[in-house]
Amino acid sequence: MTSTFPRYSRIAGTGSYLPPRRLSNAELAAELAARGIETSDEWIVERTGIRARHFAAPDVGSSDLGVAAARQALEAAGCSASDIDLIIVATSTPDMVFPSTAALVQQKLGVHGCPAFDVQAVCSGFVYALTVADSMIRAGSARRALVIGAEVFSRILDFNDRTTCVLFGDGAGAVVLEASETPGVVATELHADGRHVGILCVPGHVSGGQVLGDPLLKMDGQAVFKLAVGVLEEVARSVLGKAGRGAEEIDWLIPHQANIRIMQGTARKLKLPMGKVIVTVDQHGNTSAASIPLALDHGVRSGRIARGDTLMLEGVGGGFTWGAVLLDF
Ligand code: ACO
Repeated sequence: MTSTFPRYSRIAGTGSYLPPRRLSNAELAAELAARGIETSDEWIVERTGIRARHFAAPDVGSSDLGVAAARQALEAAGCSASDIDLIIVATSTPDMVFPSTAALVQQKLGVHGCPAFDVQAVCSGFVYALTVADSMIRAGSARRALVIGAEVFSRILDFNDRTTCVLFGDGAGAVVLEASETPGVVATELHADGRHVGILCVPGHVSGGQVLGDPLLKMDGQAVFKLAVGVLEEVARSVLGKAGRGAEEIDWLIPHQANIRIMQGTARKLKLPMGKVIVTVDQHGNTSAASIPLALDHGVRSGRIARGDTLMLEGVGGGFTWGAVLLDF
């Protein structure tokens, strides 16, 4: 008896979107100086590799950024929103408490009926969402999914804390993932360790019509840094092992774009030259769940990533969460 389930899912198209307001490090430093907060382009570039970030206008939400990225991905895949039968949005900065950002994306795309939900795994969100979509496609519950990472981190930044507010930005990336008899996604792995909830969090919440607790981002940068480099190497090796492949078979490493030094550390441990790493953190800072699909789309549209290339996508972030997806593009 032959299975009716597809063996694989594959990326049919990619897209991304950055809001138009771009702030260089020098421009941000000037804005912070007006508040009495001291920072500099030199410090930010040397410690993080970030040169600029984009901030969305006050009336623009994650769903708006996500829709713009989704439209590009749909066009690249040669399909329309009505061909989609699953929408997953990875975000930690949803437009509303509910409904989900995915439901708002569905409404804005002018379609209805297919399942739509959000995934909350902070900067690992896109890798989590892609893994869920791949599993649902291989289980036969969807044939063509829209998987989006979209964030407006500017809304949760404390602009009086120079150790965090210079690091993050807004943006979105998206892929159309469809059923396929050839790879596609080859292997995936997800992890979380709730013992580290406190090192990267936004502790506030809404209760009784009030915001209770602090609704701004808190991070122990050094603790995050140390954990990130270790787990990113470990999960990459584990996913390669599942696929029976070696690190030398990776054409492009597409890590979460948080800090160039974390990316360099991971590449070094995997013995990959930086020429095989897609780096866009310089242009948009840390956009959390949006950073991997943003970097992927940039790699594709710049002509560096070609069909048939082997890609390793790696996410790490609050939770603490981490994961990887190995795929043939
Ligand atoms: N401008 C100027 N000086 C600064 C700034 C700034 N923006 N921020 C901190 N400093 C100062 C500090 O006050 C400190 O000064 P001191 O020595 O007089 O006390 C000095 O710079 C060094 O600070 P450190 O915190 O030791 O700097 P470090 O080299 O660790 O870099 C950083 C900080 C960039 C945050 C780093 O720890 C890091 O990248 N960590 C990982 C962060 C990350 O990737 N987070 C995202 C995870 S994904 C997610 O889920 C969101």
